[in-house]
Amino acid sequence: MANNRFPRLSDFIYEMDLATWSSDMSVADLKRAIESIEAGKVLYAPFLSFKIKDSEVNLLSETYLLKGVKNISYDPHSGKVKGVHGTSEAQERLQNLLERFSREAYNLVSTVLPFYKNKLIWGRTSFRPVEIKGRETSYRKDGTRLHVDAFPASPSKGKRILRVFSNINLEGTPSEWRIGEPFSDVAKRYLPKVKPQFPGINFLLRAIGYTKEKRTLYDHIMLSIHDKMKGDKGYQDHVSQIRMPFPAKTTWIVMTDCTSHAAMAGQHVLDQTFYLNPQDMMNPKLSPLYILERITGKALV
Ligand code: CO
Repeated sequence: MANNRFPRLSDFIYEMDLATWSSDMSVADLKRAIESIEAGKVLYAPFLSFKIKDSEVNLLSETYLLKGVKNISYDPHSGKVKGVHGTSEAQERLQNLLERFSREAYNLVSTVLPFYKNKLIWGRTSFRPVEIKGRETSYRKDGTRLHVDAFPASPSKGKRILRVFSNINLEGTPSEWRIGEPFSDVAKRYLPKVKPQFPGINFLLRAIGYTKEKRTLYDHIMLSIHDKMKGDKGYQDHVSQIRMPFPAKTTWIVMTDCTSHAAMAGQHVLDQTFYLNPQDMMNPKLSPLYILERITGKALV
């Protein structure tokens, strides 16, 4: 890692020269790609854009977003789209757009990270038609603060979270990110501050229908770390980090459970989530689960 004052872009980003969603890469580049993402770098494809058809341009308008939600989302399992305000025709067209992106995202991950092929577990596809900057929200939900992903309502139980993002903004607006320190440093800093899990928590969460699956000790720790990072103003301002504006028509892949990230500004980003069991990584020892189990000395799932 570079020293705090002068972080280098190459410590955070691995750039790939891809022009299509299933471009061939050399064996050496494939090896670098998997090593980079498992080490917490962002795989960045500056020449890879997701094509919006002329007939779809008007779908990018925020008028199709249901009031009170941040995203339009698509569930590849059910084929259903959520968060759309509009006619069934608009729903269907947005569903088609998100479905096409989800397939391309799968092609991309299978091509760039063939080691994970057939091991990827599909999560949601989402589209954020509104500008991020200036939206009021509680600090826990504030994505403009550096954090690692942990989803309160869907416990990952140790599974990796791998996401493909594509900026489809038509006015050339970049998606402004910050990228922070490696997970091992985050864990060392915040794990000592994590309070024990409330014993009745799983009974309660299920009683109110909040989570379908058990929130494991791993999920409890990841959520606590997520909240503590976001709530720590000094950390947000002073931790080693870079600013990274992902221009329009670019695509990037990130393991968001280990890569500290914050989306500061931007509009019109598509995003596909996949999950992966840590044992299906090339180096499972780099998973947050392994890192946290090593530090705590106990099984967390
Ligand atoms: Co996030």
